[in-house]
Amino acid sequence: MLKTPLITALALGTATLATTGQAQAADLTISCGAVGAELTLCEEGVRAWEEATGHRVDIVSTPNSSTERLSLYQQILSANSRDIDVFQIDVIWPGLLANHLLDLRKALGDEAGEGHFEAIVENNTVDGRLVAMPWFTDAGVLYYRADLLEQHGHEPPETWEQLTEIAREIQAAEREAGNSRMHGFVFQGRAYEGLTVNALEWVASHGGGSVVEPDGEISINNAQAAAALDLAASWVGEIAPSGVLNYTEEEARGVFQGGNAVFMRNWPYAWALSQSDGSEVRGKVGVTQLPAGGDGTSAAGLGGWNLAVSRYSANPTLAADLVAFLTGLEEQKRRAIEGAYNPTLAALYQDEEVLEAVPFFGELYDTFVNAVARPSAVTGNAYGRVSNAFFSATHDVLSGSKSGEQAVADLERDLSRIKRRNW
Ligand code: GLC
Repeated sequence: MLKTPLITALALGTATLATTGQAQAADLTISCGAVGAELTLCEEGVRAWEEATGHRVDIVSTPNSSTERLSLYQQILSANSRDIDVFQIDVIWPGLLANHLLDLRKALGDEAGEGHFEAIVENNTVDGRLVAMPWFTDAGVLYYRADLLEQHGHEPPETWEQLTEIAREIQAAEREAGNSRMHGFVFQGRAYEGLTVNALEWVASHGGGSVVEPDGEISINNAQAAAALDLAASWVGEIAPSGVLNYTEEEARGVFQGGNAVFMRNWPYAWALSQSDGSEVRGKVGVTQLPAGGDGTSAAGLGGWNLAVSRYSANPTLAADLVAFLTGLEEQKRRAIEGAYNPTLAALYQDEEVLEAVPFFGELYDTFVNAVARPSAVTGNAYGRVSNAFFSATHDVLSGSKSGEQAVADLERDLSRIKRRNW
């Protein structure tokens, strides 16, 4: 049921916004993501809070693409709308949205944020205000078909070149054996925020930097970055389906979980689903760190989501209480076990039940704490444009309309123009 004219208008416009509420008027509205089991897990958490407090909450599901979700939030918040009290916000957005969000230290006390990874609390602190509570963190990992690698006598790849070779060999063998739909590698190649992270991983793992460095220097125009993008372009139509140019996380997962890919780059959430009843690859999947390029080292892109309270909420204290509950230890543990969502509470990485459900939370702990951040802090308000320029340039290389060298040179010029006015 849709509550207000603004949400109704947005829902009609985007056809992706829908609430899952009951008839009784709600005290709060929360926006949750809907990638994989996200919405179900959010609903279960919210229902537990309702039971504990007697309050009613409407849940609004939002577009899967982080890029689309951001523009929806910006419309809602710039209208100073009261429609949504609690927003699920991406780790790259605190700087962009801070002015619309409450300081949760004021609402929850100075100890809010304690026990959570320091770097995320810092990321969510803008001008001394804690504008969002860490909910789950994310880092890119490599999924592989352990059964197929073993059958063909391979270890998981340590370099992108090895991945390319193994993918090519197993794809050919599987097609020969009758699975014409088999692909070597799937990832997120659509022109959106997910491609920014994939491309950052390729570039950083080749020693090509992180597009804009923490000191503000635009570093993307270099030979390693160009080589990384060219290598990725060589996969499209060869070891990756041409359709990968339009894949987000869920399209990649669909192919891999259907048994039709040897390797997949994705976030940890795909683990729980790949091991669920009805998954074609249950019991056949391994997870390891992403490969390194050339003389570089493995680089996992840092992701993650936080819960923030809108400044325009009519019920800020209640909203902050819901945020504290959902980001608390019990909920983070449940979400880790059921959905493989990485906790932001360090203690849960020592929890036996968590480690049993998701063994790589322990094995890849270093990957999670050393993940490479996108340049959102340094570029501040301009991050959206920076990311758009980067994923568009990358998409041009993947689709064959530019060489890596040309794309990084053009991108440097575009970013310099954005920088002149912004950082
Ligand atoms: C995941 C990450 C998020 C990132 C998005 C890109 O949801 O947690 O940080 O922006 O993927 O698709």
